[in-house]
Amino acid sequence: MSIKENIEAIRAELEAELEKAENGKLVEELRQKVLGRKGTLTALRRMLGGLSAEERPAMGQLINEGCEKIGALLDARLEKLQALEREQKLKSETIDVTEPRELPRVGVPHPTTLALQEVVSALTGLGFDIVEGPEIELDHFNFELLNIPKNHPARDAQDTFYVDDNIVLRTHTSPVQARTMLSRKPPIRIACPGRVYRADEVDATHSPVFHQIEGLVIDKDVTMGDLKGTLDALFKKLYGDDVETRFRPSFSPFTEPSAEVDLTCISCRGKGCRMCKGTGWIEVLGCGMVNPKVLEMCGIDPHEYSGFAFGIGLERITMLRYGIKDMRLLYEGDERFLRQFR
Ligand code: DAH
Repeated sequence: MSIKENIEAIRAELEAELEKAENGKLVEELRQKVLGRKGTLTALRRMLGGLSAEERPAMGQLINEGCEKIGALLDARLEKLQALEREQKLKSETIDVTEPRELPRVGVPHPTTLALQEVVSALTGLGFDIVEGPEIELDHFNFELLNIPKNHPARDAQDTFYVDDNIVLRTHTSPVQARTMLSRKPPIRIACPGRVYRADEVDATHSPVFHQIEGLVIDKDVTMGDLKGTLDALFKKLYGDDVETRFRPSFSPFTEPSAEVDLTCISCRGKGCRMCKGTGWIEVLGCGMVNPKVLEMCGIDPHEYSGFAFGIGLERITMLRYGIKDMRLLYEGDERFLRQFR
C-alpha cells in the first residue's frame, strides 16, 4: 500500500469511527489514536526517514496535508458535539412560563367580616355615618348614661367583665350612642360596629366575645314608624325584597317603647328550618325610641328632638347568611372552615 493509500485508509477509518463518537472524550481518544505519539499517522511520518531524498518532500507534504485534514475532521466533530450538548442543556433548563403552578396561599376575609361589610355598606347607603368607640369602657357610658342604674340586673357580675369599679369591657355597642350624643349636635345618624364582651358560657349560640352594630338616629319628629321603615329598608336591601321584619314589645332601659325584632329567616326564607327552629322567624335585634331620660343625660332636649336606636347581633346574621350551625366555628380560626369563604 502506498503512503497515499495508507493516509486515505486512516482517514476513512477515522471518519467512520468519528460518526460513532458520542462525546468529546471519545473524539480526543481518536485524536490520540491517529495523531498522538503512538498514532497511526505519526507512525507513517516516522517511515519518511526510510525514503530517498527525492521522495521525501512530496511524501512529507502528503502526510502534512493528511494531518491537517484529519485534524479538521476531529475539530468539526468536536464542535458538532459541543453544539449538541449546549442545545440539550438549553432545552433541559427551559422554563415554561405558561405552565400552571400551585398558587401562594393567601388569607381570606373572615365570614363575620364579610357579613359586617354587607351591613355596614347597606347602612352607609342609607346615610348612616360609621362611628367607633372603645372596647374598654367607663361604667358611666356603658350603663349610667343609658339609664341602667346601679342595681339593674344587666349589671350583674355574671354578665359583665369588670376591669375595676368604674371600668368594664363594654357589654354592648350602645355606649357609642351616649358618646356621640355628647359630642355631636342633631341631626345624628350613626352606625357603630364593634366587639362586645359578656361573661357568657361558650356553646353553639353563645360566646364571651361577639359583635354588635348599633344604630342611632336623632332628629326632629323621628317616630317609631321611621324606625320600622329604616329596619325594613335595611334588611330588604341586605337580603332581598321578600324578607320582612316583625316587632315584639320588649323592655330596654334606654329605649321607651322598646321592641325586639324578628326577621324572616334568611336561611329558609320563612318556610321553617333548623336555624329558625321551624318558626320561619329569627330574632336579630333590639330597638326602640331613645328614652327621653337618656336624651336629657346626653345633653339633647327631649322636647325638641326624638330618636330611635337599634342593636344588631352580628354573629346571628353571619350564621344565617352562611348556614353556620355552631358559633364556635367563628372563633376557632380553623383554616379548613375559613378557606370556604374565599
Ligand atoms: N344593647 C342591647 C343589647 O346588647 C341591644 C339594644 C337594644 C340596642 C335596644 C339598642 C336598643 O340600641 O335600642 O342587647
